[in-house]
Amino acid sequence: MRKRMITTVVYAESGGTYKTTMTANLAVGFKRMGLDVLVIDLDPQTGNLTSLFDVGKNRGDPEADNLVKHILEMPDGDFDNLIETSEEGVDIIPSHDMLGDFTSNLEQKISYETGMKGISRDEYPRFELLYNLLWEQEQLNEEYDAVLIDPNARAEDLLYNAIYALRTLVAPVKPAGKGSLSLDGLEEMVGNMGTALDIEIGLSCVVPSGVGQTNAHRQYRDQFENTDAFATPVSIGSRESLMDAMWEARGSAFKVVEERWKTYEEDEEMVSKKGERRVPDRELETLDKLWQLAGFIATETFDVDVDDKLVLDIDDYGTETMQFDLTAKPEVAD
Ligand SMILES: Nc1ncnc2c1ncn2[C@@H]1O[C@H](COP(=O)(O)OP(=O)(O)OP(=O)(O)O)[C@@H](O)[C@H]1O
Ligand SMILES: [Mg+2]
Repeated sequence: MRKRMITTVVYAESGGTYKTTMTANLAVGFKRMGLDVLVIDLDPQTGNLTSLFDVGKNRGDPEADNLVKHILEMPDGDFDNLIETSEEGVDIIPSHDMLGDFTSNLEQKISYETGMKGISRDEYPRFELLYNLLWEQEQLNEEYDAVLIDPNARAEDLLYNAIYALRTLVAPVKPAGKGSLSLDGLEEMVGNMGTALDIEIGLSCVVPSGVGQTNAHRQYRDQFENTDAFATPVSIGSRESLMDAMWEARGSAFKVVEERWKTYEEDEEMVSKKGERRVPDRELETLDKLWQLAGFIATETFDVDVDDKLVLDIDDYGTETMQFDLTAKPEVAD
């Protein structure tokens, strides 16, 4: 039997809905549940997961082997050599500038191959390339318990390859402004994508994120939490200070709190240091929400066996224990 594993794309239609932040925190959450985790960064833009985790030293070198070369079946080395490991133990296939030219490179490949094989362009399986690489060629299911992708929502070919390969979405949504999606809109989009790709796409859950204290924000959150259309296991508050510090800590929100990273002004310059952050209850509560969310995805959506307890070891502070509730899950006989 094929083993149970987590495969999910953190997807949002619009930019800046905290996708990268959420992908990083989920990846570390799964790792701390005892799983082997791989994250694939498909976003070539600055401020991506690769820079958050401080990997991808060769991302600007066109000569260097990178994921695009492997997706297009022209590798320049071993697939395993693409993988780097973050300080928190999460494996990462970093972004590369070539991801920005993915579609034009893909078109060239399609022109060449359709010419050689005498098939029409429409018949070419352009959205199945990543699937073939990850599961058929590299058989990553043998090595990992969780594979996550942080896509670039604007790059259709790469986004569709990501969704085709992983099949399940987690959708962070941001209250108000451009980030808001109507409830119908999201379902419709998942349906449309499924039809376009001729596959079944699952929506694990929707996560209202950046929810502030205003009435409008609360109403928005309630609207999501009270629907039966999809699961909303948690909402994440507006936590700019905590999440922004991840970029200094080069890691998850768990790391920020445990190492107590703080950014502040000193002698008219912004500095970031370990060991200085306060440990407010609201930030512990946010970590607890992230833990619940990772727990929901692991157990409710994917039925994977995980360690439900997280012990945070906070520098010069002590430990905090978090646990998610597995009682809602029916026992599965082996
Ligand atoms: N819950 C939150 N509340 C407030 N700010 C947040 C929250 N989560 C993340 N942020 C901050 O918002 C900014 C954008 O987040 P992030 O990069 O994760 O968004 P994104 O959806 O990946 O953006 P893009 O579409 O450009 O890839 C970052 O500075 C991040 O620290
Ligand atoms: Mg991003």
